[in-house]
Amino acid sequence: MQIPTTLLAQVDSSVGGKTGVNLRAGKNLVGAFYQPKLVLCDLETLKTLPEREFRAGLAEVIKYGIIYDAKLFTQIERDLPKILKRNEKVLAPIIARCCEIKADVVSQDETESGLRAILNFGHTIGHAIENSVGYGKFLHGEAISIGQVAAAKLSNRILKLPQHDVERIENLFRRAGLPPQIKLNSAQRQKLFSAMRLDKKVSGGEIKFVLAKKIGRVVWGQKVSPALIDEILSA
Ligand code: GLY
Repeated sequence: MQIPTTLLAQVDSSVGGKTGVNLRAGKNLVGAFYQPKLVLCDLETLKTLPEREFRAGLAEVIKYGIIYDAKLFTQIERDLPKILKRNEKVLAPIIARCCEIKADVVSQDETESGLRAILNFGHTIGHAIENSVGYGKFLHGEAISIGQVAAAKLSNRILKLPQHDVERIENLFRRAGLPPQIKLNSAQRQKLFSAMRLDKKVSGGEIKFVLAKKIGRVVWGQKVSPALIDEILSA
């Protein structure tokens, strides 16, 4: 049984059976799939979270809207002030919807041979930020907030995600108090690229991304050139 007590764990890591061990080279690089018999999310526990930790969890909540459910995204945009106040009436159906989306995705592709990869939207750059800047400096949710905004900008360039949607995504992360970008010098960017190549989603040396066609619809396995990633991160 898992009883997650952070927002991030309630909507993401407790569901889907991924277990992982951190190595010196990076987070979660060794792991196994092992499904819990039960996941129990008690919203009372969320009241005990530091503000920064709660907001970081919202990065995964917003992710579900982008990858799977445009209505959820709009609902988060509308109800964000109540969400930030941790209003249980508003939060309960949102958390339930996130778990439902995750369960739906995982039940179609438990071991990530395809569809499950969409849950990694924003994570290629996000994990590399955590790894290269140093674990602990950014919370996971903060790093994937930067990663999702970068992925939205890449989606605009590669899949013509409308600029208006890029702005909605960036604004929502900002309003949630999450960082939309990171300033890196060229040495730090180099380190970031090395870390990106370590990501377990890299295959055959190619960096592949989950990109959005529109809010609520993404595709996985999109090759992106390092030059374009560099341009987006330097803008
Ligand atoms: N957190 C990503 C996954 O469970 O696949």
